[in-house]
Amino acid sequence: MTAPVTVDLMDPELLRDPFHGYSRLREQSPMAQVVYGDRGSSLWIVTRYADVRLVLSDRRFVNNPGNVPGMRIQDPRTEIFRKMGIDDEYAPYLLRSVLDADGDEHLRLRRLVSRAFTARRVAALLPRVREITGQLLDRLPERASPRDGAVDLLEHFAYPLPITVICELVGIPEEDRGRWLGWSRALMRSHETEHFTAAIRGIVDHVEALVARRRDEPADDLLTALIGVHDEDGAVLSEFELVTMVLTIVLAGHETTAHLIGNGTVALLTHPDQLELLRTDPAALLPRAVHELMRWCGPVQGARFRYAAEDVEIGGRKLRKGSPVMASLVSANFDPRRFDDPHRLDITRQPDGRRETHLGFGHGLHYCLGAALARQEAEVAFAALFDRYPDLCLAVPPEDLERIPMPGAWRLSALPVRLT
Ligand code: HEM
Repeated sequence: MTAPVTVDLMDPELLRDPFHGYSRLREQSPMAQVVYGDRGSSLWIVTRYADVRLVLSDRRFVNNPGNVPGMRIQDPRTEIFRKMGIDDEYAPYLLRSVLDADGDEHLRLRRLVSRAFTARRVAALLPRVREITGQLLDRLPERASPRDGAVDLLEHFAYPLPITVICELVGIPEEDRGRWLGWSRALMRSHETEHFTAAIRGIVDHVEALVARRRDEPADDLLTALIGVHDEDGAVLSEFELVTMVLTIVLAGHETTAHLIGNGTVALLTHPDQLELLRTDPAALLPRAVHELMRWCGPVQGARFRYAAEDVEIGGRKLRKGSPVMASLVSANFDPRRFDDPHRLDITRQPDGRRETHLGFGHGLHYCLGAALARQEAEVAFAALFDRYPDLCLAVPPEDLERIPMPGAWRLSALPVRLT
């Protein structure tokens, strides 16, 4: 067999344009080997739509390396967290979330959490999502820079909306939300290890205290519901599972959504024909537009590693048991085998608002728990933003917008706009 093609995920060209960057790999070597700088590695990446779905849904892949039978594979994050100074008391909260569970353990966790995090709970939040959106939009003019009149829409709208919504959903008291915003910013800058570690400690201690408080003082919130869930056999979430679940939901649920709103706004502003079309019938087109924006500029571009639990033939190569593999969501979403003319933004591409073909929320058993909430927030955000500020425009040329250079994520550093 020929040597595998290699790819450097930190290649500046790939980071700048991941949408075109994967096309050569997808055609020539649908399973490629990842290199870090000039070092080799045993990490693989799959780039075709069908292979990405397979990796995300086939039982021959596991999320937790400890579940590869007959092998003792060290989770690479353990070493990374240790080097960052996250001690053994806190690391398990990051290493043993629902995303790290496989098989029956994962099913049990998902079953329990789905009893509390229901479609009805998400729907009941809609009026509040609208209200919070309206309040943030009202305040935007005050945020304009006196120097040039530009407003950072990421900082003052896309970011505070989802964090406020998720805090209300979970039941994080209003007076603590400022701290969450600070922690979440610190987590984004993982290179500043001291702040990162302090944020992890702060979050875990805070959620532990909140769980204890809600046991004594139940409220109408997700946390109280999670404390109360049990299945037919009476099984409940343990204290550790509760804390981990809450922090996973908050952390997984706000930054991603913020960047969907940020990326989607840029996409619509730079495709005025699509924005115009959306304005003709927002009620009908918004759900379809959000599906398409998730495909075209979704904030999560790579799923977390999977590990082959046995030898698996994929993309014309054999992946050895125990090998880690990354499923490239962005590459799958631009695979011409699945999407006609994939680089064209077409908000009517999805046949209806219910069915979703892109893989931006993942696929299979670990499919995003909060997809319905994220879609709801994005629909409300786009509708209200373009309605309130019909002349909204970018304050810098689109090519000058800065992105955070991070493989697996598509995020703006800031989104300067003018409101009129
Ligand atoms: C899982 C993306 C919003 C909670 C995932 C996965 C993706 C994803 C790709 C699967 C990861 C994998 O299989 O490796 C996104 C995007 C969002 C978003 C792009 C916003 C635009 C949310 C929200 C919440 C949430 C709002 C919570 C309220 C979760 C959880 C999982 C997950 C708990 C793990 C599910 C499991 O392991 O069974 N998300 N997500 N996400 N997401 Fe989201």
